[in-house]
Amino acid sequence: MNAKEVKRRTFLAMGAAAPAILKGQAAGDTLRVAFVGVGNRGSFLLRHGLRVPGVKVVAVCDIIEERARKAADMVSGAGGSARVWTDFRRMLDQQKDIDAVVLATPDWTHKDIDIAILEVGKHLYAEKPLATTPQDCRMVATAAHNARGIMQVGFQLRHDPNRNAAEKFIHAGGIGKVLMCHGIRHGGDLPRNIPWYFDRSKTGDIVVDQGIHILDLFTWAIGSHPLRAMGSGGTNLFVNDPPGRTVMDNYNLILEYPNDVRVNFSHHYFDPPGFSGDQERVFGSEGSVDLVAATWQPRQKRGAVKLDVPNAGEDSTYMALAAFADSVRNNRRPINDVDSALRSTLLPIMATRAILEKRIVKWEEVAG
Ligand SMILES: NC(=O)c1ccc[n+]([C@@H]2O[C@H](COP(=O)([O-])OP(=O)(O)OC[C@H]3O[C@@H](n4cnc5c(N)ncnc54)[C@H](O)[C@@H]3O)[C@@H](O)[C@H]2O)c1
Repeated sequence: MNAKEVKRRTFLAMGAAAPAILKGQAAGDTLRVAFVGVGNRGSFLLRHGLRVPGVKVVAVCDIIEERARKAADMVSGAGGSARVWTDFRRMLDQQKDIDAVVLATPDWTHKDIDIAILEVGKHLYAEKPLATTPQDCRMVATAAHNARGIMQVGFQLRHDPNRNAAEKFIHAGGIGKVLMCHGIRHGGDLPRNIPWYFDRSKTGDIVVDQGIHILDLFTWAIGSHPLRAMGSGGTNLFVNDPPGRTVMDNYNLILEYPNDVRVNFSHHYFDPPGFSGDQERVFGSEGSVDLVAATWQPRQKRGAVKLDVPNAGEDSTYMALAAFADSVRNNRRPINDVDSALRSTLLPIMATRAILEKRIVKWEEVAG
């Protein structure tokens, strides 16, 4: 028996006695996954999860049964078969062949569901944000540290081929010393068919729910959390639209990091169609990188240089799920693990506080 077979047999034997894979033990060829929360994001994750080699979707769960059934149909359409659940706790209790869970329920539910899944020893791919308050974020992080399974958080842009290549270039010293990051996320308003997006008490507001991705990328490039946040924002166009709206429709942030590094980020929903765009640029002593395009512009030369991009054009969500399966199999720490997710969720919570309280907020106030 070769080493791979030994690993596989060990995994299968364990599966009979104890479905959870213990940390330090590799999974075999097949990772049996349940998708919990199959609305907008969860069904997109499922679509890509079904393409990942070695992933077998064995269960789907949503409190809205119709959505769970639709998700099961997607699995059947791809040649598989998934059990349908409307209660994730019953699913975890009764379906013993689940190795890992992909979770995409609304933001305010993350803390309790993440912890429940981690406590029963499953591997967990959980959507961002980690939670909506600093205390809840720390509770999830503690549960992940004590868990037998691996936890990866839904910062899938870290796996986007262009952005991943650009970050590697920065980390290898390609642009010299990082001096500043500048980001723009200008587009249309949030989707009207998902009412909870407009309720600050359910999301932590739009920095936590939306701006979080780009701020995570900048923090990854800089390699440290910010020391201070200042900002200004509000609701200027979509006032009480939809009725009861409590989230902002625009804000601007300045974040100060160690060594005098700054992040400048502008986010609004005022762009008319055709006028939209993201910009994610990291400026260094030797030149600057555009994360979205994976190009680098040396300081002294005219003309951007395209970086070498493995898996160019592949979807970031597919790449993130493939990386999750790979991390489980090889017991490898994900690049968007719980510690990076803790930092990258505390950051927008800090920034939101700065905006709402109209003052400079220090990292210690959220890091606790
Ligand atoms: N990473 C990304 O780019 C990205 C993009 C969009 C959304 N998200 C995140 O994904 C999550 C879901 O967002 P969405 O847009 O899909 O919202 P959604 O409302 O469309 O979907 C959430 C689903 O979860 C279900 N649900 C709620 N509580 C549940 C429970 N206890 N058990 C099982 N199912 C439950 C709902 O019925 C719904 O179908 C959020 O955390 C959001 O921040 C991430």
